[in-house]
Amino acid sequence: MARRILLLGPPGAGKGTQATLLANALHVPHISTGDMLRSAVADGSDLGRRVESIMAAGELVSDDLVVAIVDERLSKDDARCGYLLDGFPRTIGQAEALNDSVVDAIGTVVLLDVPTEEVVQRLLKRAEDEGRSDDNEETIRRRLEVYDADTAPLVDFYGNVVLTINGMGTVDEVLSRIMISLARS
Ligand code: AP5
Repeated sequence: MARRILLLGPPGAGKGTQATLLANALHVPHISTGDMLRSAVADGSDLGRRVESIMAAGELVSDDLVVAIVDERLSKDDARCGYLLDGFPRTIGQAEALNDSVVDAIGTVVLLDVPTEEVVQRLLKRAEDEGRSDDNEETIRRRLEVYDADTAPLVDFYGNVVLTINGMGTVDEVLSRIMISLARS
């Protein structure tokens, strides 16, 4: 089973939820740029101060900054035998930079397919439960526009290593579809 996996899909598709479960099942680290950036914001670090307003507006942090963070993370020992990337790459520029720094950087792309109205409902519900700063309706719409413009083209970029998974249903149902699809790939 491929161990260098990218989870792709619009905001609210369930990437983070599935990545946590898959990383445990596959014994590879879950590397989420969103989590790393939110943690920098919570820590009040230089990086956090630079990215806070960008994230709250639903825009993308610059490729250079994110590529540097991921390069450093992938150089750690635990990433030698594989990893599960969640939220990176999310532009063609990031994908090209990743290919330049890691040989065979991505073996499989898991694309979570969830209709727009469902992802909006999931994120609005999370706004009530957790209060994430980018989970208000206006920012959610912007994040979806950014996904369509900058991230969706990665589906063609990765071409025949993309497994499209129906992301509707319970978390366990989606996980099971992913595991079956990975085992067959
Ligand atoms: P990031 O954290 O990557 O956010 P995102 O892509 O918008 O993804 P989300 O976390 O909102 O959704 P998800 O698909 O992970 O779904 P989740 O499992 O959480 O990025 C945030 C920001 O950081 C970006 O906007 C950007 O500013 C910056 N950034 C990050 N990476 C960057 C990069 N590479 N380049 C530049 N900037 C970058 O689930 C969502 C909700 O749905 C949860 O409440 C969950 O419980 C629920 N849920 C999950 N599965 C189901 C299900 N099957 N049924 C019902 N509910 C479900």
